[in-house]
Amino acid sequence: MSDMLSQSLPKHVAIIMDGNGRWARQQGKPRWRGHQAGADAAGKIIQAAIDQHVDVLSLFAFSSENWCRPEEEVNYLMKLLLHMLKTQVKELHKKNVALYVAGDLSQFSAQICAHIKKAEALTCANTGLKLIVAVNYGGQWDIVQAAQRIAEQVATGVLTLDQVDEKLFSQYLVLSNISHPDLLIRTSGEQRISNFFLWQLAYAELYFTPILWPDFDEKAFQKALDEYAKRHRRFGGRM
Ligand code: FPP
Repeated sequence: MSDMLSQSLPKHVAIIMDGNGRWARQQGKPRWRGHQAGADAAGKIIQAAIDQHVDVLSLFAFSSENWCRPEEEVNYLMKLLLHMLKTQVKELHKKNVALYVAGDLSQFSAQICAHIKKAEALTCANTGLKLIVAVNYGGQWDIVQAAQRIAEQVATGVLTLDQVDEKLFSQYLVLSNISHPDLLIRTSGEQRISNFFLWQLAYAELYFTPILWPDFDEKAFQKALDEYAKRHRRFGGRM
């Protein structure tokens, strides 16, 4: 059983890209320069994931809690997101990447929503890397929106209560048709999940590195994959 379960390459890698602000401070630069460097790092790691034949890469770009940051920083992150949608999507399409944006888009501008829809429509038939960018995403939000939709279906008789189990619940979460992360990487030395994929990370291997996100490169990504290959996953079963 253990051989069957030990997969040397994670199918789905999820990353909490943390440390942009500290990187900027260390360099004596304003915070926005850290986010800009963070966006460059994201580009490099997308390429590394393609090169390593990872199936799914999820990047936590903006959490539900990030709205609490100073207005100037939130505005910069929105501008950066829009800029990336405008400039990077063609490139991703050429690389056969399918882009999916996960999160509560109701608070985003109509312009950003339109670009997201366009990018998803352009790339949805691509068969290469599935790239999930989580924006205004929160694991608790995801679970609540699933519960609300299920409750509505039970109330209207579309579902019965005994049909509601883990498998059905999973289908109402935002990544319903995507395998759950095998490996979670968090940079910058923090060792928390911070309301990222709470349900979906149930059996993920966790990997924490002190490297600040803008310095996280192909070599660091490979090191995380190597560490994953050494882990022995049991999914609650016996050795
Ligand atoms: C965490 O650093 C990073 C963010 C809140 C934003 C992440 C955004 C990017 C990496 C750029 C955009 C990328 C994509 C794919 C859209 P922090 O500001 O919390 O750093 P700190 O903890 O050192 O202050």
